[in-house]
Amino acid sequence: MIEHNHPILDVAEEEAVIRVLRSRHLAQGAEVAGLESDFAARVGVSHSVAVANGTVAIEIGLQSLGIGPGDEVVVPSLSFIATANAVRRVGATPVFADIDPKTYCLSAASVESRVTSRTRAIIAVHLYGHPADVDVLGALCDESGLVLIEDSAQGLGASWRGKSVGSHGRFATFSLYATKNATTGEGGVITTDDPEIAERARSLRSHQSRFVGRSLQVATNARMTDLQAAIGRVQLSKLDWMQEGRHRLAAVYERYLGPDVTTPYVAPEAVHGYHQYTIRTPDRESLIGRLEAAGVGYAIYYPTPIHLTETYVAANDRLPETETVSNEVVSLPIRPDLTDEEQGAVIAAVNGEGE
Ligand SMILES: Cc1ncc(COP(=O)(O)O)c(C=O)c1O
Repeated sequence: MIEHNHPILDVAEEEAVIRVLRSRHLAQGAEVAGLESDFAARVGVSHSVAVANGTVAIEIGLQSLGIGPGDEVVVPSLSFIATANAVRRVGATPVFADIDPKTYCLSAASVESRVTSRTRAIIAVHLYGHPADVDVLGALCDESGLVLIEDSAQGLGASWRGKSVGSHGRFATFSLYATKNATTGEGGVITTDDPEIAERARSLRSHQSRFVGRSLQVATNARMTDLQAAIGRVQLSKLDWMQEGRHRLAAVYERYLGPDVTTPYVAPEAVHGYHQYTIRTPDRESLIGRLEAAGVGYAIYYPTPIHLTETYVAANDRLPETETVSNEVVSLPIRPDLTDEEQGAVIAAVNGEGE
């Protein structure tokens, strides 16, 4: 079986964990502070706040802006459900917009049609690691008095006009879950250039409930541990070569995959993060059959768009591009340690060679 994804771990992560264990300081401390400064430097922002996962990162970021009951936040439906759940968890309403069928990220025209007098923010998801068009979405936010938020959970390693994702919005969030381009097992980070958001986020991750905007923001424990942060610092130090590996594999796929599948589009302004290498075909069933017969691990992100899940279905109308894309996409292995032989087998299966 060719595994679809797994973390790239070696002796450096093991040594980092042992160092923290021997220090007897397991909870949030110096390693978390170190990860925060490494992360801010990597993304090119002044502040980064480490938290327990990428979902609470969004919740805390929204709370730090005082977004809550009565507010609407425009989000894509082609995303992990966490993007919408985080909005609902703070008491606000997620409003789903359609995607650009080339980048699979939010369509500015669709977003614009969803903006009402209650809209406070837009959450742009850098899906599969391709940046959303933060120029157009940022301009729309400026014109309409809205806040641009980047859900960069899948975006680490990607950039737009030479600036890392996570540095374009008012704040951004990252996930360091085990499948992400860099991992701490579970983990998340909020990045921002706004010192007030950073300060509120630090407070809100550690039970210090406070009034922000119009209402009391009830806080929680969303701290990261030093054990996780120590792993994360090693992962960040390896990110460049892990990203080189992803780009090398993407170039080989682009060259050898046949014309029956659509390979990922890369906008001229973008460096793709290749969190996923997602291809598209109207005949997904046959493709999946060939991958399974060849023992190739694959994934479908996402088989049910969020607006059609049980949790959200009542609230929303149709999103044609999102619904078509979710029926046609398949993500192939692009982990940096995929061997040439494994990649050759994936390509042969996709192309139906030897059938
Ligand atoms: C787009 C997106 N947003 C949010 C999240 C939530 O991150 P976490 O799983 O760390 O809570 C994820 C994680 O998969 C994601 O892909």
